Amino acid sequence: MYQRENWASRVGFILAAAGSAIGLGNIWRFPYMVGENGGAAFLFIYLIAIILIGYPTIVNEMIIGRKTHLNPVGAFKSIAPGAPWWLVGAMGVFSGFLILSYYSVVGGWSLAYIYKTVIGVLNVGASEFDTLFANHITNPIEPIIWHGIFMALTTSIVAAGIVKGIQRSVQVLMPLLFIILVLLMARAVTLQGAGEGLAFLLKPDFSEITSSTFLDAISQAFFTLSLGMGCMITYGSYIRDKDEIPGSAASVIGLDTLVAVMAGFAIFPAVFALGFTPNAGPGLTFITLPAVFSKIPLGIFFGFLFFALLTVAALTSAFSLLEVVVAWLIDEYKWSRTKATITLGILIFLAGIPSSLGYSTLSSFSFLGMDVLDTYDWLTNSILLPFGGLLTAIFTGYIWGTKNAIKEGNKNNPKILLGSWWSFLIRYVIPAVIFIIMLAGIWDTFK
Ligand code: TRP
Repeated sequence: MYQRENWASRVGFILAAAGSAIGLGNIWRFPYMVGENGGAAFLFIYLIAIILIGYPTIVNEMIIGRKTHLNPVGAFKSIAPGAPWWLVGAMGVFSGFLILSYYSVVGGWSLAYIYKTVIGVLNVGASEFDTLFANHITNPIEPIIWHGIFMALTTSIVAAGIVKGIQRSVQVLMPLLFIILVLLMARAVTLQGAGEGLAFLLKPDFSEITSSTFLDAISQAFFTLSLGMGCMITYGSYIRDKDEIPGSAASVIGLDTLVAVMAGFAIFPAVFALGFTPNAGPGLTFITLPAVFSKIPLGIFFGFLFFALLTVAALTSAFSLLEVVVAWLIDEYKWSRTKATITLGILIFLAGIPSSLGYSTLSSFSFLGMDVLDTYDWLTNSILLPFGGLLTAIFTGYIWGTKNAIKEGNKNNPKILLGSWWSFLIRYVIPAVIFIIMLAGIWDTFK
């Protein structure tokens, strides 16, 4: 009989969950959100969103997971048998599949850029990087091969299991990620003219804040903490019964925020010092940064480090996305881990191909003006994740009951005790805020 695993230590769990949280969201998405929303002012609102919405929600998901020791579908079924709440878990499993399919395409770009840096393709004039990036993603074949390599790496780690696969690799990869980030930061802040970038991150300009700043801050908080689709339910389901949860959750959001801010400090001083603009949007990582590296001493080396950082961050998040779907097949349908990971690895690879082809063969595709990858991203981040988050908060708040949840969450003497403040946030604040955000987001897309 299959024996369900547990994380072998508390630190192992914290690193795995931080590895899930820290990803493209921190290093690719967060800096350009900051760049587009007026720097420090955005940072300020984002921090409030992390504390008031992100923290209670991540704790809630981890508690549901640990209480049931099951995948999201099984977890909702076991707490509310006979009721349709398991559909929230099913929506999460579906979201995990969909997010990973395009996440891996971007992970593949990052892998390709490591390779391109090393073989010297990125040794061109600063103005040529947008063409270079366009040439890369509009090639119908090459990015799909890198996407396949990225999925193969992810699949092989998850196939090796919770402790021997995921925990063991995050214990190496997360410290590595941290070291690379410190090196990049040290390089950036010592460039001549770095001060302007530091000021951009530290001096809030509140005149830049609009209603969309709040939307961006809250959806960023959800995405970066891997919330709203049962990812933290799944990782939480492998927490040992003797470990505490609220403190671990605080460590996870602390590490995630630290890395996002450090990525900002590694990127903006360099961008400003070399006279680039911070608001390049999604292209900041693949166009502006390589251009920056091309102009600084030892740039090739730092460029290599940067894309290694991005790839490591993306990989440890991809493990968690795949694990959600794998755990569902193992728990609910008694598949073996090997069969589940390999089958899903192949299916998710295939599902990602249209996202990659959206820039070449399928470039005529458009949904409300979005390409394939952006459509998947919109469907998951603007619809499925907030909806999942909303329903999960309502589930704990009104179906399972915050009293029961608090009992599970306060086991083993946590330093942070859950109480009526947590209950209040889960029952009233979070549902209301997410509801407004969803409406505003949908309004914004279709208007
Ligand atoms: N949090 C990751 C990042 O910042 C991405 C991620 C992993 C994710 N698992 C998730 C996002 C689950 C939403 C839901 O890149």
